[in-house]
Amino acid sequence: MPTTLITNARVIDPASGRDETADVAIRDGLVAEIGRDLDRSIADTVIDATDRIVTPGLIDPHVHLREPGGEHKETIETGTRAAVAGGFATVCCMPNTTPTMDRPEILYFVTSRAKETAHCRVFPVAAATVGRQGEQMVEVQMCQNAGAVAFSDDGDVVQSAGMMKALLTTIGELGSVFMQHCQDTTLTQNAAMHAGTVSTKLGLTGWPREAEEIIIERDARLAEVTGCRYHVQHISSAGSVEIVRRARRDGAPITAEATPHHLTLTHEACDGFDTAAKVNPPLRELRDAEAILEGVADGTITILATDHAPHAADEKAAPFEDAPCGMIGLETALSIYIEALVNSGLITWPELIAKMTINPARLCRLDERGLGMLAVGDLADITIIDPDLEWTVTSRELAGMSSNTPFLGRTVRGRAVATLVGGEVVMNRLNPHESVQFCRPGRAPASASF
Ligand code: DOR
Ligand code: ZN
Repeated sequence: MPTTLITNARVIDPASGRDETADVAIRDGLVAEIGRDLDRSIADTVIDATDRIVTPGLIDPHVHLREPGGEHKETIETGTRAAVAGGFATVCCMPNTTPTMDRPEILYFVTSRAKETAHCRVFPVAAATVGRQGEQMVEVQMCQNAGAVAFSDDGDVVQSAGMMKALLTTIGELGSVFMQHCQDTTLTQNAAMHAGTVSTKLGLTGWPREAEEIIIERDARLAEVTGCRYHVQHISSAGSVEIVRRARRDGAPITAEATPHHLTLTHEACDGFDTAAKVNPPLRELRDAEAILEGVADGTITILATDHAPHAADEKAAPFEDAPCGMIGLETALSIYIEALVNSGLITWPELIAKMTINPARLCRLDERGLGMLAVGDLADITIIDPDLEWTVTSRELAGMSSNTPFLGRTVRGRAVATLVGGEVVMNRLNPHESVQFCRPGRAPASASF
């Protein structure tokens, strides 16, 4: 297999502690060598990465690819195209599809569709209960054997404490992880947005913080007694951050993820009934966003995800109460995180990259498959980032099928300029004068010039 050489990059690999200017040589899909002034004559392809940052391929543990059943919103092909456009080399897809990913044959469908059509690596998250109804546990072992890297009823909470304890006991025995969509539904009947001044002004039913916090409190206790790893999805309230902080301090096996929207936007974005900002859990207040930022900065929140949730334009055009919850995120997340966390001085580049590579890898035990790190011998999944590249978010710029994001029109700085999966360049916008190119793994030309 040909050799690719990435030269003169700032190479950041949090797993090994590397942060230095170096060249990276790639052969047979693996990292062959990292060092200064590697021999260019052996390379079939040379990528000049001067002033750019090279990291392990980004990993998003929370996306909705919508296939099967929601192909008018996104498919595995279009969703993973959006992923590599945003710098992600691996995504974990949620089970709220139609049919639900609650049994081996549906998981096999997803993994085989991914093999045929995906632009990056795809690992399914299985539903925890049949039909995500909260009543009957899935065949956890069979789902894990069929490729599930985690379990979640995302979109819905597991409301019953009894079911949660049973799930954590079983999932813990298998060494897997449970991901919770934290929403006590007895407190959110008919809720459309955060319970606050904006919901009052708009006359909409509110979704209060305590609906999230109560579930995390309860589950932290259950995680502690069962010893099962438990992960809080899309954390949205200041109180939740404090509960996770305390539980981690007490030694509970808890992790939490942030999303770009919960740490940069507030419920004000819903004013004027803007359905692009309708998301579950809802955007809250400035003090919540600030607490999430602080949680990211102090290490309470170790994972930066997207909750990429595509919806069709006509669905989002419905009245606010009826419109579906969710916004896309794969293509804007890195830029938003760079601005909100690194350019603001809250965390360093290696800290940002850890929360987008090795930490999500460990969550889903993908580090055991060689993902999330960039040392010699590791899989050559690589993201090349131009930290200064400015771009404006427009629907034309977006590679996925849907464009439901409140970030449309925003100019941001910092963007992935190439994504490599198994040593192949699957997304390439290295040349600012050319439009972005996509090439599915296994389809790359033997050599190319950049
Ligand atoms: O806003 C959301 N959209 N939150 C969820 O939990 C589910 C997701 C979706 O599937 O659209
Ligand atoms: Zn989700």
